[in-house]
Formats: sequence, structure tokens, C-alpha cells
Amino acid sequence: EKYYIFGEHKMGGTLGNKAVVGVHCYSSKDLYNWTDEGIALKMQSDPNSEIVLGTILERPKVIYNPKTKKYVMWMHLEFRKGPTAKSTDIADILKEKPDYSTARAGLAVADKITGPYKYIGSLRPNAGKYPLNCAEELKAYKAELEKDPNWKSKKLKKDEYKKAMIKGFAFLRDFDKGQMSRDMTLFVDDDSKAYLGCASEDNSTFHIHELNSDYTGFSGKFVRVFPGGYHEAPAFFKKGGKYYMFSSHCTGWAPNPGRSAVASSIWGPWKELANPFVGADSETSFHSQSTYVLPVPGKPGQFIYMGDRWTPKNAIDGRYIWLPIRFEGEQPVIEWLDEWGIEN
Ligand code: GAL
Repeated sequence: EKYYIFGEHKMGGTLGNKAVVGVHCYSSKDLYNWTDEGIALKMQSDPNSEIVLGTILERPKVIYNPKTKKYVMWMHLEFRKGPTAKSTDIADILKEKPDYSTARAGLAVADKITGPYKYIGSLRPNAGKYPLNCAEELKAYKAELEKDPNWKSKKLKKDEYKKAMIKGFAFLRDFDKGQMSRDMTLFVDDDSKAYLGCASEDNSTFHIHELNSDYTGFSGKFVRVFPGGYHEAPAFFKKGGKYYMFSSHCTGWAPNPGRSAVASSIWGPWKELANPFVGADSETSFHSQSTYVLPVPGKPGQFIYMGDRWTPKNAIDGRYIWLPIRFEGEQPVIEWLDEWGIEN
């Protein structure tokens, strides 16, 4: 067996918070020793490309579709904006202020796992569609909001804002053009159905979207989860027929207490559990933010937590931490270990 890992190719300094090279791939037979497989998806120098150098490309994930025999990569994209948006000069890219208003899911496809991936395009998921779990409430809220023809540009007061987000103000605002998709993850279930989970609605509410059978688009089925809960950095796994989700709070590159949740169906209801991290520095998730959960090869029911340690001032110095996950009942627990081995 062989394992593959994909990640943003980071550069030194703050330039590395933007993508100027692409998505890098490594492979390993034992999860200890890694081979550089090169750049799987290359950023483009055509200024009209959606993935022109300097675009923000985050959290790329790859899944295999057995029906089409293609490797499918989804990623979070933020287009360049402003007067220098079409310049491929590194000095211009470096100066541009990161702009996170695009919030789109990008798609690339390859015949080989290591690439080259062909960039297909990007979208805001499920435009014009209501979720499975709260359509009636949203329709009623929409009717209420539409009494004011200028509701989309209405300035909400602080106390109104939180309530409005929970009820789906941002969801309805984005209804026609599609839902925001920022921090994202992919999950393939035992029945081969695949899902894209993402921070949506200005990050306030999490969405879980079913992909179509090719994994290259959306089936139209999705749910809103944790309205007003601000979940980022999602990672799903399944244990004993139950679905688990790790996530973080919303504090940019700075780490915060981890979060965990469980559900009997991917569609919920999702129950929030405790911070899975215990002991010293658990309030920073051991200086990490969840990125993936790896089922331990050959050991069903055992999982490895993978977290990013971001260093935005010198992005190339960002690292991963990997730690084993144990369970106390349904609560996943992660303890700090200076050293551990996959074989134990
Ligand atoms: C984090 C997010 C990262 C990145 C960063 C930018 O909250 O998890 O993926 O988007 O914000 O500030």
C-alpha cells in the first residue's frame, strides 16, 4: 500500500500565504518516510486563469472516484482582487491584501493520483437550493426579510446580527448565487457517497453537501449544521457506524481550543462534544488546527489526528502534528505525546 498527502506549497515570508507554486504531493509506504512526487496542480501564469499565481488556494483534498477512475481534487479558492489582480509580478502579489470574499470551491481532476491535475473551475455550491434540514424555516424567514426590498444591504446591529446569522440571513443573501465555501474537507462514506463539508455563511454556519456520483459537482442534497457556531478546519471520520467531525473556532491563523461532534447520520442531527485535546496547551489544540483524520492502516477503529501549525509570518515554516486519537465513550480524546509509533 501507498499513502499520498497533498498540501499547499508554501513559500518563505508572508508570500507563502498565497499560492504561487501549487498543490504539492508526497507519497509514503510506511507513513514515516516520504517521497516528493512534485507539484500535482500548478498555479497558472495566465492572468485570466482562476488559479493565476497569487490566488489563495487552501486545504486541497483528493478523493478517487471508482466509477470514472479519476482522482478528484477540491480546494478552497479566493480570487485576487484590486488594481494589481492581473499582475504576475511577485512584488505585486506580495503587496496585495488577502481578500476572503470569493469563498468558492475549486475543482481539478487527474488520471493519476500524483497528477498533473487539470483545473476545471470553481463554484459556490447549491445556488437556488434549500437544505434538507431547515427549508421551511428559511422560506418563512425569507418572506419576512423580503418585506424590506433593501434587506440584503441592511446594516444589522450587533445583537440583531447574531440572531440573523443563526436564522440564515447570510444563507438567504447568497441563495441565488450559491453558498460560500471556505475551510473545507472531503469525506467518502462506505457506500461511496462523497461529501464536501465547508465553513459557509460568513463562516457562521457549517454546510455538508453531497457530491454527485462523479464527485465533480453537487447532488443538491445538503444540510446547515451548527447555525451561528463558527466552525472552521473541518475533518470527518467514521467509527462504529457513527460520524465524527473535528473542527476549530474561528480565529484566523491563530490556534484555539479544538472541537468535536458526533452524529448517527451525515445529515445530522450533529451533537457537539468537548474539546478533544486534554492537558497542557489543550486550549490551543497543542498549537494546531485540525486538518485531517487518518484511519490507521490495518487497524479498524483507530485514527490519527493531523493538525496544521500555521506560521503566517513565515508560511514555509508551518508544520504538522500527528497524534493518536483514543475514545472515552463517544468522546474522542487527544493527548500530547513527545514520541509515539504507528505500530503500537
Ligand atoms: C483560518 C483558516 C485557514 C486560513 C486562515 C486565514 O481560520 O482555517 O485555512 O483560511 O484562517 O486567515
